[in-house]
Amino acid sequence: MNKSRETTVVMDARKDDSGYETAVKLLQAGEVVAFPTETVYGLGADATNDEAVRKIFEAKGRPADNPLIVHIADFQQLDAIVSEIPDVARICMEKFWPGPLTLILPKGPTLSKYVTANLPSVGIRMPNHPVAMRLIRQTGLPIAAPSANRSGRPSPTCAQHVWEDLKDRIPLILDGGETAVGLESTVLDCTVSPPIILRPGEITQEMLQQVIGDVSMDAGLLEEHHAPKSPGMKYTHYAPQGDMTVLEGDPKRIRTSIRELCQQMLLEQPNQRVGVLLTTNQTGDEAFCEQLDQMGVEWIIRPQGNADIQETGQHLYQWLREFDEKNVAKILAEGVPVQGFGAAVMNRMRKAAGHSIIRV
Ligand code: TXA
Ligand code: MG
Repeated sequence: MNKSRETTVVMDARKDDSGYETAVKLLQAGEVVAFPTETVYGLGADATNDEAVRKIFEAKGRPADNPLIVHIADFQQLDAIVSEIPDVARICMEKFWPGPLTLILPKGPTLSKYVTANLPSVGIRMPNHPVAMRLIRQTGLPIAAPSANRSGRPSPTCAQHVWEDLKDRIPLILDGGETAVGLESTVLDCTVSPPIILRPGEITQEMLQQVIGDVSMDAGLLEEHHAPKSPGMKYTHYAPQGDMTVLEGDPKRIRTSIRELCQQMLLEQPNQRVGVLLTTNQTGDEAFCEQLDQMGVEWIIRPQGNADIQETGQHLYQWLREFDEKNVAKILAEGVPVQGFGAAVMNRMRKAAGHSIIRV
């Protein structure tokens, strides 16, 4: 979309019937609309319409070789968009849909070639969000939707983030509040046996193994020296403007290292803004943060609630955006254990840090 266009925001989409009507009309006319899902906000378009799908790539500035996920609200929609459903995929659909699980399946005949970037497979999911489900049902269309951010920015977890990235590039944003999961769906490739996780998410390897047995994890996801299998995972995503380093290991030792690194950084460049992101609550953190404050660390983010991994996942992208807003030049972030949903959190954190990791 080269020409600038005005963006309307429907403030509380859950209660606004006319908001849905406008959105449905736009989607049926081949336009793009941003809407909430349980993971992150999506930028949707009719997945069967070439022109509509191209508008997604244009608005996001997304490379054309990175395929999109197709969202459905009804199992009957599957017939036209996939050519085969292996048993493992059927079991996953029954168990986890609607929910944050994208299944890669052999593609069917009706989808735009731009959706799949000419691959023989397509990613499909049924989102667990009332606004997304109602919108897809009312359009009667499969909706292609990547995350509604400009390419290379963190995925949006509230309508404000979509506005910051896509204002004047898309006609409509449906605001459904803050998203619950905060990280994108798990992507499971069901075209290979055993199925393989191409992107970790809230539906964990352990959860999948419990229902379908053997499930492997793409080796490229957590380590830097393997190339990831999924087209989208090779791009530098979620990169904040500041240089980020993740510290992994014992929380006490992590705090000692953070203190030393902050001292060093501020000695080298006293005028730069340094930010610290903590993901756990430790006794003594009040005093620790006061010390950082006195050293001149300008921006400290700590979890507000239980400091569990769920909360870190839900707010990680928001926190990265906050560091950007404050022009933080150096970010030191406490990692989380790579277990359960922690695998998804660490995958995104390590990517945001460009795999700059200190293990203590
Ligand atoms: O939670 C989500 O999945 C969100 C919401 C909006 O549903 N969507 C999302 O879409 O994260 P996107 O486009 O940002 O990420 C899609 C990922 C990319 O890494 C892409 O490469 C991968 O899925 N993907 C899509 N189709 C694929 C295919 N046929 N084979 C392998 N990977 C595929
Ligand atoms: Mg994305």
